[in-house]
Amino acid sequence: MTKELIKITDLPHLNRAQVKENFKTYMNPGLSVYLGLLDFDKLYVRAEGVYTWDSENKRYMDFLGGYGSLNLGHNHPRVIEAIRQVNTMPNLLQASMNATAAALAHNLAQITPGKLNNTFFCNSGAEAVEGAIKLARITTGRPRIVSCGSGFHGKTMGSLSITGRAKYQKGFEPMLPACSTVDFCQLEELEEQLRTKDVAAFIVEPIQGEGGIIIPHEGYLKEVQNLCRKYGTLLVADEIQTGLGRTGTMFASEHEGIEPDILCLAKSLGGGIMPIGAMITTQELWNKAYGGIEKCLLHTSTFGGNTWATAAGIATLEVLIEEDLPARAAQLGEYLMEGLRTLQQTYPIIREVRGRGLLVGIEFEPATKGMLAKVAGAVNKLSAEYLGAMVAGVLLNNHQIITAYTLNNPNVVRLEPPLIVTREQIDEVLNALNDTFEKNTSLIGFGLASGKTLFSSVFGKKK
Ligand SMILES: Cc1ncc(COP(=O)(O)O)c(C=O)c1O
Repeated sequence: MTKELIKITDLPHLNRAQVKENFKTYMNPGLSVYLGLLDFDKLYVRAEGVYTWDSENKRYMDFLGGYGSLNLGHNHPRVIEAIRQVNTMPNLLQASMNATAAALAHNLAQITPGKLNNTFFCNSGAEAVEGAIKLARITTGRPRIVSCGSGFHGKTMGSLSITGRAKYQKGFEPMLPACSTVDFCQLEELEEQLRTKDVAAFIVEPIQGEGGIIIPHEGYLKEVQNLCRKYGTLLVADEIQTGLGRTGTMFASEHEGIEPDILCLAKSLGGGIMPIGAMITTQELWNKAYGGIEKCLLHTSTFGGNTWATAAGIATLEVLIEEDLPARAAQLGEYLMEGLRTLQQTYPIIREVRGRGLLVGIEFEPATKGMLAKVAGAVNKLSAEYLGAMVAGVLLNNHQIITAYTLNNPNVVRLEPPLIVTREQIDEVLNALNDTFEKNTSLIGFGLASGKTLFSSVFGKKK
């Protein structure tokens, strides 16, 4: 039986249609169609820093930044060099002490807030969140986990149970028991939940990413911490998207000086190259959960803390600190938001500009009667759901700028470039947005402008 397999050396010779066919047939056909609607089904063949190139050698600017995984940009040479330096060491040898992992854990203990000290390494954000849920339950002996409506913590069963979007949970019920949500920024609701003293942990993103880049009011996180301490609930900061310089400080928790009991990291910790997640907690909590020979293997992950991933983590922290990328994010984020607010004054379609550092969202006016008076109800619904995607489509196809909407709020386009982005590159994006809104004053315009969008396909069928 000889089956024909694609060789690694064949890869450079596969064209866009062949890749699409493989993706559609052997991976996710629905996603293939969805990407195709807005011409997002391009074949990217090269990437460096803020840029990526497609198979026709067209250059694109990446303002999506791997959903926060590319704080250093694509293929940072220091991260690649770090992996090269360790590539003769054993990468996976679990029945041993991994020096690289221990060094990264040491470094994380130095830079994370408060008394955070012990790290559990895993491979993704959701897995870090799973680690936090388990640690909270075992150390407190309490069952409940409280999270925020419209919060996002991942899509594995545990993390999905505390992710605030019914659309992602539907069909997978029952969720993990004893999970409930409160509104983000609602302290009274939270206190009501905590008062029963059966809540193991309250998990919160210091700034909600997928919820639509929502910044809490000043003092919120501090008060959350006070409430958690008062009722013996652990405070879990999900910094998977906000961490590692993204919001202008190394961790977004620093903005209000909170000291979470558990901090979750992933995304950019691998320098945009290696998959790695981390759940970091205090020595006291770690020992309570996993101290001693009996309990030290209660929570494990085969690939967690492998040499290549943790070497990438060490190099990532080095670059972030040496180049002071958090400060750069703070300055350039201000610059970007100033520019966006100027656009907002001209274009009423922009409802709000929000952000901190280089985690920035543009919320659009929802598609309502006035704006889409001429369009049928079904299209209206589509536009309400996918307006952010359509703006992203225009930016991609007319301006070669990659962006995306936020998962829990599709009316928000996120701008989340690598922290190495320049003012000139930000200016390019601002000019592109200006051009987009100038040419397409209505939502219908967005559809027509990108040629192959949802709208034009719908209109096409109607004619
Ligand atoms: C705040 C937050 N938590 C958790 C996750 C889940 O991370 P992953 O996709 O690596 O499982 C994400 C992903 O977007 C996130 O933004």
